[in-house]
Amino acid sequence: MTLSVIVVAAGSGERLQAASPKAFVPLGGKTLLEHCLTPLLGLDHPLQVIVVAPEGWETPAEALARSVLDSDQSERVIDLSVVTGGASRTESVRRGLALVSEAADYVLIHDAARALTPTDVFQRVVDALKEGHPGVIPVLPVVDTIVPVDPSTAVTAEAHPRDALGAVQTPQGFHHQALRHAYDEFVGDATDDAAVFRAAGGDVRAVPGHREGLKVTYPEDLVTLELLAGVAPAMAPGGVAGVLVGTGVDVHQFDADKGLVLGGMEFHGVPGLAGHSDGDVIVHAMTDALLAAASLGDLGAHFGVDRPEYEGVSSTTLLRHALGLLQDAGFAPASVSVQYIANHPKIGPVREEMCRALSGLVGAPVHVAGTTTDGLGLTGRGEGAAAIATALVVPHKLV
Ligand code: CTP
Ligand code: MG
Repeated sequence: MTLSVIVVAAGSGERLQAASPKAFVPLGGKTLLEHCLTPLLGLDHPLQVIVVAPEGWETPAEALARSVLDSDQSERVIDLSVVTGGASRTESVRRGLALVSEAADYVLIHDAARALTPTDVFQRVVDALKEGHPGVIPVLPVVDTIVPVDPSTAVTAEAHPRDALGAVQTPQGFHHQALRHAYDEFVGDATDDAAVFRAAGGDVRAVPGHREGLKVTYPEDLVTLELLAGVAPAMAPGGVAGVLVGTGVDVHQFDADKGLVLGGMEFHGVPGLAGHSDGDVIVHAMTDALLAAASLGDLGAHFGVDRPEYEGVSSTTLLRHALGLLQDAGFAPASVSVQYIANHPKIGPVREEMCRALSGLVGAPVHVAGTTTDGLGLTGRGEGAAAIATALVVPHKLV
């Protein structure tokens, strides 16, 4: 059985507004074109691969495709060709289809823009084709309510029940000769191949798609994919890295005349911590880490001893101020981890309550751990307490 895969990569990516056509935009150190070809190596069939490239980009497209496909030890890719695309997706598919080998049983058509579609989705489509279905598309459940809206903004009908709708992805698979026939008959443009196939009376079945099959359309889709797929962060819009990290440290002396406030909680019967505010080293370290992650300076710069209005103010109030600064700068916390270093109090018994309260305050998971220094240093001698925090922040459009 031979499978031909047409990868349509000839779009300009107008909505992405990148310096190069969309398929040549990097995501985690590789172009979308390289990413979208990689899952083919996980398929267990002899493959013909046809890349449809933008005019003038045929040579780099071929070099990138070879770099991915030549890494395959099994030699299952029997042929690679690159062809220049057309003015519309439909025209680009036609040009790819013209190169499909007569011997191919099945044809898959895949958008390079759905760069991280996993092998599983390809496999599900192929399996359904082999079961005898002539047309197969991956779909995802629709999460939004969909209504028809006309050009005057009027909503013209009731919403279609969501569970009877599917959001269509690629690769779309077809029995070869039936697909050829459908494209020969079709006039005009369609946004996907199943529409062309159905126009010729072809039967199309749905198999489950995948969230990582998201189509890169707007700049923030690149960052969403990085987060979804855990690939190394590339640059987000504005040149800001997708995930940013910050560190914060705070140390205060114990002061028996003050009550102890730690992680925003009050502790009774133990000495408190000296300081301009309530001396809450956990919240101070967290606040510094969050400010640092967003390149917003440090606690001293915003709430230092030269700002009398912050004297005696609770540290959680300072943290709230800092979260407002992050928000204004376009960032949201993604997670915070903090370790409290002192002989007492023990964090274990209060950890759950403290983490829950701090997570609620920050709007992202906060984890608090505790340790001692084996009797060494100022914390070991019981003179004071320290905390070290690490915070991750992301552009807030994405959370
Ligand atoms: N495509 C193509 N030839 C075209 C237009 C689109 O091969 N003339 C491909 C794109 O490269 C992409 C897929 O079809 O992989 C889906 O198209 P889309 O996401 O709309 O990409 P672009 O057309 O490049 O983006 P835009 O519409 O923002 O310009
Ligand atoms: Mg387009």
